[in-house]
Formats: sequence, structure tokens, C-alpha cells
Amino acid sequence: MTELVVRRLLVDMQAPIARHWCGGDAFRTALFNALSMSFPVGEQFFIDSVRKGLNALTPGEQARFRAEVQGFMGQEATHRRLHSLYNAHLEQLGLVNEWDARARARLKLLEHAEVRHWLAITAANEHFTAILAEFLLRNPDLLGDQDPRLATLWLWHSAEESEHRCTAFDLYQALGGDHEWRVRWMKRITTIFLLDTLRQTVLNLRRDGTLWRWSTWRSAASYLFGRRGLVRRTYRPWREYFRRDFHPGQQDASASHRWLADHAHQYVPVGA
Ligand SMILES: [Fe+2]
Ligand SMILES: [Fe+2]
Repeated sequence: MTELVVRRLLVDMQAPIARHWCGGDAFRTALFNALSMSFPVGEQFFIDSVRKGLNALTPGEQARFRAEVQGFMGQEATHRRLHSLYNAHLEQLGLVNEWDARARARLKLLEHAEVRHWLAITAANEHFTAILAEFLLRNPDLLGDQDPRLATLWLWHSAEESEHRCTAFDLYQALGGDHEWRVRWMKRITTIFLLDTLRQTVLNLRRDGTLWRWSTWRSAASYLFGRRGLVRRTYRPWREYFRRDFHPGQQDASASHRWLADHAHQYVPVGA
């Protein structure tokens, strides 16, 4: 079992967020802001999934998972809280979060679904966040240096996503979840996640008045498809998930360990 530490991040989320906080780049700012908008609703669902999963286990298995699940819930709850403060600043900038309502409507359809569906959806999303996290931890300069507080927030969140990447997956397997459904949900989540990200990013750019600027599209092309591009760098780890013998623990998490060790002055472990 993984030991998951809950950390209180020492950043000031009261100070406002600049319009193009991410290196002055409209596209990257809009993309990160879009992802932030999805977190409060998404992370609440992940918390509910692992809680449900834990309750569905036998008492012996519950004892094995309890501490890890509590750590997972604590980490996601902290992410939610800080990203809610972040998102309130985005509202002040005139951005409108449409992703949240769409996700809530979709999750309503799952209300009575079996717990393994919840966990397969959570595990797929967690794989996405873990590979994005690893990408970000290896390319921290893409966050720019205009707002060190937000760069720290994204890297801390990334480090913890990488750290707890096995929890939902292990619960799914402990409850007898099979390979076919795991893969089926990954395909669906990939489509939903990419479309939602695209829609919210475009909406953010439109509200920002920068959607039709040449510099926006040039940045999008290079950030997504360039030599160090997000799509190019994450395609392979994304595909790994479809292997029958895949386990998230096989993926490299050294960048996460390194960040947490090098930035211990920027957080306080809770309950330590
Ligand atoms: Fe998170
Ligand atoms: Fe997570």
C-alpha cells in the first residue's frame, strides 16, 4: 500500500490572478484554467468513488486499504479547496465555467451504477491526470515565471496526482473489476475529457478576446504538437493503459518524488 501524506500548501490564494498568468501566453493560460474548472466536481466524484469502493470491500480488505483511501481523499479534498479559490478568481476575470454543469449532469446518470463503474471511471481519469502531471513536472518552465504561486500550485497538485495514481485502480481490481470494462471506460473518458477540455479552452479564449489571434494558434500548435508537445509526450503512456497487464505503479514517478523532496519548504504535512 502507498503511504499518502496530506499536505497544506503554503500559497496565498487570496491575491487575484492575472489575465495571462501563464508566461503571458493566452492559449496555455486558457488551457490550464479550463482544467482547473473541472477539478472541484471531478475530484469530489473521485473522493466519493474511493469511499464507496472501500465500503464495498470485505472487512479484511478494508483494513488493508483504509489508510491509503483516507490519504487519497485528504489529498483530493485539498486540491478541490485550492482550485475552488483559483476558480473564483477566474470568475472575477469574466470567465464562465460550463464544464462544471455538464459534468454534474453526466454524473447524475451514474447515481445508481455499480461501484466498479465509478472506480473504472475514476481510475481512467486518474491515469490521465498522472500522465499530465508527469509531463508538467518534467516541463515546469511551461508554467512561466509570472506567478510563482500558481506554478507551485500546479506542480504540487501534479506531484500528488502522480503519488496517488494507483489507489482507484487497486480498489477496482480488489473488487473484481475486469479488463474489458476498464478499457471500455478509458475509451469513453478519453473522448469526453478531450472534448470537454477543448470546449472550455475555446470558451475561455473567446471570453478573453484572444481566440482569433495568430499568436494563440501558434502557441496551441507548438504546445500540443511541437517537439516537446503535450500530445507527442503523453500518447505512449496513455496507450499503456490498454495493456492487459498494465498497472499504474509501472509508470515512472521519479519527477514527483523529486519535486516533493526539493520543495518541502512550500508545504506542511497535515497531522504530522
Ligand atoms: Fe487532484
Ligand atoms: Fe487524483
